[in-house]
Amino acid sequence: MRVFILLVLSVTVVTSESWSIVPSFKSFFKEQSDNVKTFYNDAVNKKDAVDNYIEEQQQVIQNNIINYIDDIAVTARSLVDSSTYHPDVDPSSMLENPDTVLSVPGIITRHGYICETHTVISQGYVLNIHRIPRSKYGRKKPSKTVLLQHGLFASSADWIINGPGKGLAYVLADAGYDVWMSNIRGNRYSKDHVWFKTDSENYWDFSWHEVALYDVPAVIDYILKIKGKDTKITYIGHSMGTTILFAMLSLRPEYNDILSAGFALAPVVFLSDMKSPLKSMAPIASNLAYIDGLQGTYEFIPKNSALGKISSTCNGENMDSLICKNIVFYLCGFNERQFNKTLLPVFLAHLGTGTSWKTAVHFSQEILSGKFQKFDYGFLNNWRVYGAGSPPEYDLSKVTAPIKLFWSKNDLLSSEKDVRELYNKLPSKPEMFLVPDEKFNHLDYLWAIDAPRLLNQEILNSLQTYMSDYTFSIRF
Ligand SMILES: *[C@@H]1O[C@H](CO)[C@@H](O)[C@H](O)[C@H]1NC(C)=O
Repeated sequence: MRVFILLVLSVTVVTSESWSIVPSFKSFFKEQSDNVKTFYNDAVNKKDAVDNYIEEQQQVIQNNIINYIDDIAVTARSLVDSSTYHPDVDPSSMLENPDTVLSVPGIITRHGYICETHTVISQGYVLNIHRIPRSKYGRKKPSKTVLLQHGLFASSADWIINGPGKGLAYVLADAGYDVWMSNIRGNRYSKDHVWFKTDSENYWDFSWHEVALYDVPAVIDYILKIKGKDTKITYIGHSMGTTILFAMLSLRPEYNDILSAGFALAPVVFLSDMKSPLKSMAPIASNLAYIDGLQGTYEFIPKNSALGKISSTCNGENMDSLICKNIVFYLCGFNERQFNKTLLPVFLAHLGTGTSWKTAVHFSQEILSGKFQKFDYGFLNNWRVYGAGSPPEYDLSKVTAPIKLFWSKNDLLSSEKDVRELYNKLPSKPEMFLVPDEKFNHLDYLWAIDAPRLLNQEILNSLQTYMSDYTFSIRF
């Protein structure tokens, strides 16, 4: 554009002077046109220089803006991080259901029930026990006490995820029970320790054995202290919660008299007939735990562990990949008909709790040995720990409390054969209840759409049977 204007000016100069210097017109014109040409070339070079300069400046300005925005973002993020809890979930799902971000007491309270948190110290582990002391309908204080014990990778959230009217904790509270829900050491509600750092090897040196030997007895003692020493408690465990029940009653037989009954939902005691992919993983679980240990990770399946990485290799955002991403669905099976999809974000948000490498290896040992036995430290160390080359079995003949086994046909972890073996080894010849749904699986106990019809009614009926034989001393 500038070049064009200069050309017009040159032509004007030529015209005005052409009268006086006509002979030299040709040379003049040539000179002028050469000048124009030079100027033109010069201008072109200048234009490139200007363009380059502007481009450079634009880049600098752009970089400055980007850095500026980055700085603001970092500053803002660090400010927000210092005061906000960031759950590991898609933010859009938060808006649909606040249960994805709320803790267990928050969810229970949101639904209009009272939730108390009681703290019990066991071997330095700070255990937080959640309690729904009564129904939200009516103010009558219940006298009968139920203790709910969750399974592997889980928490007290298991008993409330299905919501009021379906989740067992609400159902029991509404039916007039005082509901206590323990959280085992190492899970998100019982993570603190009085003297160990939570990422230390010592902290994670436990399996369900220590939970059964120390923690659940400590929780029961605490409940007796609060409610009176004659209080009778019905223990309801799911999955590893049943492992803990039978280990506790064999290691601490005095607790047989405190429990009015023990209900085992999806019993996990003998595991030799397990159908889950966990069975084929059992031989490598020790190695994975070992690799994690070498890297200084003693929590099993936290996000950065070897297995955590394996479980996060699925891509995509659809339902299948969500399930694929979740190791627990992979291990326990998935029953589309009984699973309420709107609960998936809630379930995923509450699952992110690991366990110890020792728990994982202990379960692997049960799968491989087919025995319900203590942790196998290897021949030489077993001599040191147990005074024998192989670990002792838990003595199920000591389990004298009334027991009821709830089992289902489609349970990948708790097969009919293994449940029958448990039944045969229990001296009291427990009651058996087969959940009347062919497809019912290991995790449906927690959130089945038809839980009221398939499970809850049976639990309520059984509680009435087992707890009505006692007179209760009510002390609050
Ligand atoms: C699924 O869960 C949502 C949220 O708790 C609930 O509103 C809905 O009724 C449930 N659907 C079924 C089929 O139970």
